[in-house]
Amino acid sequence: ADGTVEIPVVFNVVYKTTADNVSDARLQSQIDVLNKDYSGTNSDVNNTPSEFAAVKAGDTKIRFRLEKVVRKQSNTSIWNPDENLMKSASTGIAATSPNNYLNIWIVNNMTDGTLGYAYYPGTITAALDGVVIAAPYIGTGSGTSAPYNLGRTATHEVGHYLNLPHLWGSSNTGCQTDYSNDTPVSPGPNFGTPSYPLYRTCSGVSRSQMFMNYMDYVNDAAMFMFTTNQKQRMQAVVASSGPRSGLRV
Ligand code: ARG
Ligand code: ZN
Ligand code: CA
Repeated sequence: ADGTVEIPVVFNVVYKTTADNVSDARLQSQIDVLNKDYSGTNSDVNNTPSEFAAVKAGDTKIRFRLEKVVRKQSNTSIWNPDENLMKSASTGIAATSPNNYLNIWIVNNMTDGTLGYAYYPGTITAALDGVVIAAPYIGTGSGTSAPYNLGRTATHEVGHYLNLPHLWGSSNTGCQTDYSNDTPVSPGPNFGTPSYPLYRTCSGVSRSQMFMNYMDYVNDAAMFMFTTNQKQRMQAVVASSGPRSGLRV
């Protein structure tokens, strides 16, 4: 009634060793993190600098629920963005109703230590649509790998899935638009745990960077907010008229 959309999530766990066969409890811990971060009830959102307080998203009115878990053993050692991951006849697991469920594949390891990747709405054939995350970065607690051990890789990747670019734009050149006017223009990613304020320059203009936004590359413990414009972009994706309206229950 208040316009909240609850997205059903299917986890496709393609594991090599038992360590990668992430438990149901850890998958639920990931859902719990998503619900906190997307409702703005994560405890660390209070660390938002006052400079950015006015543009904090608060509740995005997007929620998640664990719909189903599918598991399969595979001997693949390193996954590339690889269609075989999405094919049951090969070494992977086919998506479950990708227009109606957010499919998240969990793999043992990706090329170059990639934490995860995702597709923007309408940019990939339905069978491959969704999010991929390496096992050490899913959920919280035992088996996760610091400094990406608080479930924020999924918060970030689901942001992409809901049409949010990085703060520096979709190209690696940086200083491009992210289509949210309330996030400062940025020349590129920040890493680790930067200290506020951090000024960086685009086209000769120095701006205080919103490195604590989920769409930057800082450590899990250093990212804790979306903005109002980002919330609006995500809501437009799951709206009745939006490209992912099939996720509505
Ligand atoms: N590098 C990945 C991407 O661009 C994910 C970054 C996630 N960051 C994190 N602190 N978990 O999609
Ligand atoms: Zn990203
Ligand atoms: Ca912006």
